[in-house]
Amino acid sequence: MSTPPPRETRFNEEASQWDSNPSVQRATSLAHQALLSRISCSQKDISTYDVLEIGCGTGLLSLSFAPSVRSITALDAAQGMIDVLKSKLQTSHTNIKNVLPVCALLEDPNDERIQLDPVNLEPPAAEEKRRFDLITSHLVLHHIPDLQPLLSLMFAALKPSTGKIMLTDYENFGPEARKFHPESKMDEVERHGIERAEMTRLMENAGFVDVKVEVAFEMEKPIETFPGSGIMEGKMNFPFLFCEGRRP
Ligand SMILES: C[S@@+](CC[C@H](N)C(=O)[O-])C[C@H]1O[C@@H](n2cnc3c(N)ncnc32)[C@H](O)[C@@H]1O
Repeated sequence: MSTPPPRETRFNEEASQWDSNPSVQRATSLAHQALLSRISCSQKDISTYDVLEIGCGTGLLSLSFAPSVRSITALDAAQGMIDVLKSKLQTSHTNIKNVLPVCALLEDPNDERIQLDPVNLEPPAAEEKRRFDLITSHLVLHHIPDLQPLLSLMFAALKPSTGKIMLTDYENFGPEARKFHPESKMDEVERHGIERAEMTRLMENAGFVDVKVEVAFEMEKPIETFPGSGIMEGKMNFPFLFCEGRRP
């Protein structure tokens, strides 16, 4: 499969400063806790899990989660984000050997870049296809123009009967949800958060069962004092939804 040209996206420029935003760190930490607590509710041993994270950014969630699972394929559309993650793996996180950063969109579950095993960098045996135990994403769904095809691709990339998605993003709870982003950062924001009923419907349409979409946590975040001011001296609480479903 050919590698497409680098994608133009604001996340390339934002990558080097991404981790210095306290709200990004806090949101990831809350998402990680939510993920671990939901998995432990299902009493599964996740040390054997092969995980795919979509929209991993600089790898904040992948690097926190990596010690708990067998492997993480960390996918992001922005080369800048992937470069920061690669550099962390070569400098500050050299102990982590089971995360494979990949600059790509999920467009084909058989894409050879996600078929590689992050632990040994080997492709699956001939005639076999690599499928995931868990697909996760955090703060990515609001950037996706059309969620239905992506959910169908996630479904196809999971192990039948056991594979699960666990996705988090802030909730579109009404017009105030727009305040999540300052007006200068509306580029590539496709929706102001995700909606419970819509996510449930889209996940069920994609074929998922045991679908649950509920608030997992709330996070206070700086907001603009008035839209477009650029002055981030206001504060508001934003609910985050946790979207869970299983491939039957
Ligand atoms: C708001 S950032 C979140 C990054 C990271 N999850 C975090 O919380 O720090 C959204 C990320 O999703 C990536 N992204 C957007 N659409 C994507 C897609 N279709 N496939 C993969 N990554 C995508 C962007 O490049 C960006 O890094």
